[in-house]
Amino acid sequence: MLVAGNWKMNTDIKAAVELASAVVEAVGDSGKVGVAVCPPYISLSSVNDVLSGSKSKIKLGAQTMHHQEKGAFTGEVSASMLVSVGCSYVILGHSERRQYFGETDQGVNNKIFMALSCGLTPIVCVGETLSEREGGNEQSVVESQVQEALQDVEIEKASQLVVAYEPVWAIGTGLTATPEQAQEMHAFIRTLLVEQYDNIGNKIHILYGGSMKPANALELMQNKDVDGGLIGGASLKAPDFAAIVEAAKSV
Ligand code: PGA
Repeated sequence: MLVAGNWKMNTDIKAAVELASAVVEAVGDSGKVGVAVCPPYISLSSVNDVLSGSKSKIKLGAQTMHHQEKGAFTGEVSASMLVSVGCSYVILGHSERRQYFGETDQGVNNKIFMALSCGLTPIVCVGETLSEREGGNEQSVVESQVQEALQDVEIEKASQLVVAYEPVWAIGTGLTATPEQAQEMHAFIRTLLVEQYDNIGNKIHILYGGSMKPANALELMQNKDVDGGLIGGASLKAPDFAAIVEAAKSV
């Protein structure tokens, strides 16, 4: 189980430090559940200080990165820079990156290679829009996202991957996939991962994201192929985030 908080473009440095401290306190011993927080770039260093200065096992993640090692890419941040600031995870291909910043499956694929080569665990986001679901195309959309993002990613690296199914219509909308809808898609993604990676595909964490909150976390995570959550809104409230971690512990 893995529970990761995506703080998106929220919290200045002071607020990020306060939130990170509150999360450490509220989560306490996370047991076998992996926990990560992904603040904005400018707060990574300060949040890393909070996490590494505590007894907590909470890891640090970033929300995106550039696929090149270094160079003239104004405004961008590389995988090795993220490692140097203490990151273990990086979210790649979030639907907001795809929607507002033109990120493509090919681009996500490039980033996955760079993240893996630097030792970062990529959290690779996939998910259909409402019109794609209404048109009955949700599986074909997710299939091509998974296959293109993971194209040529070798089996030796596969155990370092995390996939997040985030139906776009459920992100920040208050709408959540039903446990049945989530399990159906997660099982489908599992099949794709097993096709590509044999038994290792069974071990890759598949997170659910999209308005996961304390009230629905348990029923979502109780499904066989739901291995945790990628949490947006509810990760900005330490007690809510901690309650989701608690739900993951009980599964
Ligand atoms: P949400 O966001 O929990 O606010 O719906 C999830 C995400 O975008 O990762």
